[in-house]
Amino acid sequence: IHSSFPVIAIDGPTASGKGTVAQLVANRLGFHYLDSGALYRIVGFASLQRNIPLDQTLALAEMTQALQIEFKGNAIFLDHQEITELIRTEEMGLRASAVGAIPEVRNALFSLQRSFLTSPGLVADGRDMATVIFPEAVLKVFLTASAQIRAERRFKQLINKGISAKIEILLNDLVARDARDTQRKDAPLIQAIDAHLLDTSEMDIETAVQKVVDWYHAVN
Ligand code: DC
Repeated sequence: IHSSFPVIAIDGPTASGKGTVAQLVANRLGFHYLDSGALYRIVGFASLQRNIPLDQTLALAEMTQALQIEFKGNAIFLDHQEITELIRTEEMGLRASAVGAIPEVRNALFSLQRSFLTSPGLVADGRDMATVIFPEAVLKVFLTASAQIRAERRFKQLINKGISAKIEILLNDLVARDARDTQRKDAPLIQAIDAHLLDTSEMDIETAVQKVVDWYHAVN
């Protein structure tokens, strides 16, 4: 599965800021960007919409393969309907984590994720970018922050969108989601042995972006 185009893999727990950092790094380098979490959110969303229970793993895999997913800039479409905001809720995050624990779903998303790797290169963010999907990545980053800081960041995001939230509930939810993502059998969230650790607890976004770009230029 080796390709001539470079991949930067950025993995980490929920609300670590990896999506923002990954997108900005992609802009800086002129690379494509893959938000793999969005794919799991879409599968979660579609399974609810179509009433497919999570124990029907074969039906879920078939549904996943047939999904018409399009990314247009920052907007995401499922079967030509815009669902950008619909999949961003806490509920869909938890549902995504649940479908992400199903190996048949992960397999069904494998080729779609690989297809994002086109010229001149790709920045991919998720949980298993460095370990499973793009093991050949030229740069692997494990981006994290303390659970408290992540809960506070999520809280601010929601408040800014006019959505009410409670920090304690957000903290509980993200600790539960981390636990499921790190403890699942298939492709768990883990720092790859060859990944750089980037703890952004006390770092602003620009510093984190610069760090990743510097690491990339050190190898390319
Ligand atoms: O990055 P995110 O919060 O949008 O991801 C939502 C959930 O999707 C996450 O809790 C677990 C799952 N996921 C996954 O299993 N593998 C990925 N590469 C990305 C996300």
